[in-house]
Amino acid sequence: MESSTRKAVTPKEALNDLENKILVITGAGISAESGVPTFRGTGETWQGRHFTELANPVTFAAEPRLIWDWYLYRRNVVAVRGPNPAHVAIAERARRVPGSITLVTMNVDDLHEQAGYTDHVTHYHGSLWHNRCTACGLEREERSLAYADLPLSPCCGALERPAIVWFDESVSTEAFCRTQIGLMSADVVLIVGTSGAVWTAVQYAGLAMSRGILTIMVNLEQTRVPSHYFLQGKAGEVLPELLGGA
Ligand code: APR
Repeated sequence: MESSTRKAVTPKEALNDLENKILVITGAGISAESGVPTFRGTGETWQGRHFTELANPVTFAAEPRLIWDWYLYRRNVVAVRGPNPAHVAIAERARRVPGSITLVTMNVDDLHEQAGYTDHVTHYHGSLWHNRCTACGLEREERSLAYADLPLSPCCGALERPAIVWFDESVSTEAFCRTQIGLMSADVVLIVGTSGAVWTAVQYAGLAMSRGILTIMVNLEQTRVPSHYFLQGKAGEVLPELLGGA
């Protein structure tokens, strides 16, 4: 849909126009109503250590047991939680027109998948449920909720680390390319539940707006993420109304 020919539409009209391609970017706020702590606000520290220190390769090199205990704690939190209406609304919208949504999440939980989203989910910052070999980089799905000893990779017998993108690390080429492709084909960008503290959402929202792509932000509070429309509220309440069909 070219910006020059775009008739004035509301966020709901744009998101329910089944000819539109949508790039959806979600952050920790979309999982908050599932009981998964967000980073900035409730989940900032664990055992007295700030998450920016825990999600860090330097700390992992020095204290691998501590870091694994933090991720195992987070696995145990997510293991007893489920998707909320926000996750379900996105899955339902995608089901109406398969392939119409590019879903990129900064979250490492699998609540989008649990909600029945069956297209590809791009986990921009990795996945709680994957381990990575520190010798060869191979990743594998792994759902243990406890490790008596630090996990060793079946491929190399080397220490495994969480397959998470830590601070000062780069996003995978695949995640970057999938997001760029989603942006290039998007008629609408929907950003949900992110503070913008990490540049990702700010960057993509800015790129979208510079290209005249309708950009909609749903969040509990105003942030530095730019958008054409800012819809303040809980994702679990706003998204079912927003995406729930014409
Ligand atoms: N509905 C909508 N928004 C919500 C809700 C809710 N129910 N609850 C909280 N929020 C909002 C908060 O107001 C906040 O702006 O979600 C945002 C969560 O922000 P952060 O905790 O900073 O999470 P996020 O933006 O996803 O962090 C991005 O930073 O720590 C790194 O890699 C980590 O992926 C993470 C990245």
